[in-house]
Amino acid sequence: MKPWEGRFTGATDVLMERFSSSIAFDWRLFRYDIEGSAAYAEMLGRIGILSGSEASEIVAALSEIAGEIENGTLPFRDELEDIHMHVEQRLIEKIGELGKKLHTGRSRNEQVSLDTRMYVKEELARLDDDLKGLMEAIVRKAETEKTAIMPGYTHTRRAQVIPFAHFLMAWYYAFKRDRERVAGARLRADVMPLGSGALAGSTLPIDREFLRARLGFSRISENSMDAVADRDFVLDALYAAATIMLHLSRMSEDFILYSTEEFSYLSLPDALCTGSSLMPHKKNPDALELIRGKASRSMGALFTLFTLIKGLPSTYNRDLQEDKEPLFQSLASTREAVAIMALAVRGLFIDREAMERAVRMSFMPAVEMAEYLAAKGVPFREAHHIVGTMVKACEERKVFLWEMDLDEMRRYSEAFDEAVFDYVDPRHVVENRKTEGGASLREVERQIEKESAYLRGP
Ligand code: ARG
Repeated sequence: MKPWEGRFTGATDVLMERFSSSIAFDWRLFRYDIEGSAAYAEMLGRIGILSGSEASEIVAALSEIAGEIENGTLPFRDELEDIHMHVEQRLIEKIGELGKKLHTGRSRNEQVSLDTRMYVKEELARLDDDLKGLMEAIVRKAETEKTAIMPGYTHTRRAQVIPFAHFLMAWYYAFKRDRERVAGARLRADVMPLGSGALAGSTLPIDREFLRARLGFSRISENSMDAVADRDFVLDALYAAATIMLHLSRMSEDFILYSTEEFSYLSLPDALCTGSSLMPHKKNPDALELIRGKASRSMGALFTLFTLIKGLPSTYNRDLQEDKEPLFQSLASTREAVAIMALAVRGLFIDREAMERAVRMSFMPAVEMAEYLAAKGVPFREAHHIVGTMVKACEERKVFLWEMDLDEMRRYSEAFDEAVFDYVDPRHVVENRKTEGGASLREVERQIEKESAYLRGP
C-alpha cells in the first residue's frame, strides 16, 4: 500500500514505479532520514501530538530500522519510491497505528532537503579533513626537498629557475582556497528546513527551534517556499568539489609530464601506477590520469545541477530528485581523488640531478642577466634587448649564456663585469630573489613555517 493512494483509483504502472523510484541511490541517506524522524517524533511528543511513551516507542523502532538497513535485511521496493517512504512504511509494519502518526505536519519535500543537507554537512567535513591531509603531505614534501631546484615553466617552455618546493607549495595554496570554499558550502548547508511542510508550514505548533538544536544546525530556514525549493547548497558543494578536482587535475598533469622519460624529474610510487598487458616495460600513471578523467565528471555534476534547476517554477518539483546521483558521485570521487593525490605526493621520488641539469642546460638565467644590467643602471627594455641578442648569438653557436666569456659579453654591454657569472648562477638566483612570495629558498622556508603553524590549527 502506498501512503498517498487514498485519492487514486487506478494502480501505478510498473514501468512508472521503476522510473520514479530513487531508493537505489537515496538509501544512502537512511541514517539522516532516521535521525531526522527520531528528532521529529521527540518534537511531536513535546507539543502533545504524541505522548512521551509513544515518542519513545517510535524512536526505538526507528533505531531498529537503521540496524535493518545497515545489515541489508530491509528489502527495497520500487513501489515505495524513496528512503523516506521505506522508513515510514517499515515503522508502520513494526508498530502499527502509532507509526502512522509520525508524518503529522510533515512532507517529504522538507525531509529530502533535511537529509541532503545533513549528508552534505558530514561529507564536506570529511572532505575538509582529506584536504588538510593533502596539504600536510605537500608541506612535508616541500620541507624534505627544500634545496632542490628545477626549471619553472610558462607555455611549457623553460622560463626561470625555481625551488622545487616553491612549485609544490603553489598547489598547496590552491587547496587552501579550496578549504575556504568548502567552509562556505558547509555554512550554506547548515540550515534546518523541517517545519516548512510541503511548501507552507503547518497549523500545528511545530517546534522548529527544538528540531534545529536537536539536529545540530546553526539556523532555521526563514521561508517555507524557499526552503523546499532551495538547492543552492548542493550547487555550492558541487562547485567546491569541481574546483578541487580542477586543481587536482592540473596538478596531475604536472606530475604526469614531469615523470615522463623526456623530463624524468619525478617518478611516481608503484602503488599508484599500473603496467601494460602487452608492453613489459611500461609503468603508467593511471591514478593521475583517472583524477584528470574524474574531474570532468565533477564538472558535469555541477552543470547537471544548474540545468536541472534553472527552469523550475517555485517550490518543490520532482525534477529535484535528479540532484542526488551527481551529488553523491561527485563528493565521493573528489574525496577519493584528494586521498590519492596525498599518496602521490608522499610517495613521489624527486630526481634532483635531472632537475638541476635541466636548469643549467638552458637559457634560463636570461631574466637575471637583464636584471643584473638593470641594477647597473641600464634601462630594463634596453637590457632585455641586449640579452635577447646575446641569446640569439648563443643559439647560432650552440652554447649557453653562461658559456660566453666576459670579453664577448662586454661587446654587448659595457656594464658587464666578472660578477655576472655568480649573479646568474641558478643556485645564487634562488638565494638572491628578494620579492615576498617569490621563488626563493628564503620564501620557501617562510611558507613552510607559516603553513605548518596553520595546519596545526583546526
Ligand atoms: N524522492 C524525492 C526526492 O528525492 C523526495 C520528495 C518527494 N516528494 C514528492 N512530493 N514527490 O526529491
